[in-house]
Amino acid sequence: MREIHLKAPRGWINDPNGFIYFNGKYHLFYQHFPYAPKWGRMHWGHAVSRDLTNWEHKDIALFPTKLDDKDGCFSGSAVELDGRLHLFYTGVKYSVYDPENINCCLNDQFISAQLHISSKDGYCFDNFGGKETIIPPLEDPEIGDRSHTRDPKVWHGANGEWHMILGSTAHGKGKFLFYTSRDLVHWEYKNSYSKDGLGWMWECPDYFTVDGKGVVIFSPMGLANGQQAMCAAAEFDESTCEMSLSDSVQYFDCGLDLYAPQSTLDKDGRRVVIAWLRMPEPMKNGAIGMFSIPRICEVKDGHIFFKPHPDISKKFTRKTDVPEKIYMVRSTLENGGVLNVGGFEIYPENGKLVTDRSAVNRGGEQFPDRSETPPIGEKCTLEIYVDENIIEVFVNGGEYVITNAVYGLTDKISGGIDTEIFAMEE
Ligand code: FRU
Repeated sequence: MREIHLKAPRGWINDPNGFIYFNGKYHLFYQHFPYAPKWGRMHWGHAVSRDLTNWEHKDIALFPTKLDDKDGCFSGSAVELDGRLHLFYTGVKYSVYDPENINCCLNDQFISAQLHISSKDGYCFDNFGGKETIIPPLEDPEIGDRSHTRDPKVWHGANGEWHMILGSTAHGKGKFLFYTSRDLVHWEYKNSYSKDGLGWMWECPDYFTVDGKGVVIFSPMGLANGQQAMCAAAEFDESTCEMSLSDSVQYFDCGLDLYAPQSTLDKDGRRVVIAWLRMPEPMKNGAIGMFSIPRICEVKDGHIFFKPHPDISKKFTRKTDVPEKIYMVRSTLENGGVLNVGGFEIYPENGKLVTDRSAVNRGGEQFPDRSETPPIGEKCTLEIYVDENIIEVFVNGGEYVITNAVYGLTDKISGGIDTEIFAMEE
């Protein structure tokens, strides 16, 4: 099978979790409710791949067993230490159940703790004996919220310590919390960072450096146009855990559907990011949710670029006139031009690049037809990855990306300058 997107095998999926290259394979875990195509008591699904395409589904890795995670294993991350795979995640305990659906709680009445579990081979996790709570529910609301503190992302600092960033909220503003550890089990609270005007809670934070430059990715809740992942250049002092964010905060993606991105290092040491595609309706297999293609993160003149991972782009070698189920389109647009990809329209307008999915949309208000980039000028180059339910438009070599969920694309492609269609290698 030739695939470039990891898709829900059944039920529901959301955020990518524990993304890591471990023992010669990429492991991607994810938020998963296996019983129905809707969000509920979270498990960690699991898939592996040698080449970031062709994902192989594995058994569910994590499921609720302890008092601290009895109502869900929320998002988190992975690191390797001494040949073992270590996972960090948020365990959730509901205080008041929804009587009509005990997989959900009522009015955000839940408590969160941070947990750890490890595995020798990356496949078998001792859900009964291997979990430990490493950060109990917070007691001090000045530091962070007892319910809304979650999504640990752990990395090894250049100073030899392990670092953790958590998403949280205090005084109605989103917040990062920073912890350090020497052994991955004992963690000490160090510092926090908050900024006005970026929503009331920050989910799924991720911090890393690219060519020595710090980058933060996070998913704020409560932005004007809903939930949208953001990124910014950041400075982080490992010894004090003090962070500062540049004022030019960017959208991770200019569509409204991508959320909760998570990064890792690929096998060649590049920073690769993958994100969840929010979907209004299930796919043909009755399941809901998929992931973007992996993107390489680069920073140029303070701007954060996301480019298609070369392991994906290099597979599109066969020029064709008739698009197959999965294909890539290269084109250029100038003022007045329109590129139509199976009913999905792309055109410049007032110096911005606009997409319109009205002919191939199934969403309501949360899935608007129109998306647009910030101003980019008169002319732009496009590299577009198309699969049954997703279109990813990379503008000017990843300066901006617009990703949308789509339904019922036709096989007609028209417009644009020097438009070429590529199918995947045989
Ligand atoms: C983001 C998120 C995370 C949380 C998870 C629960 O989409 O809300 O903050 O850990 O999903 O499924």
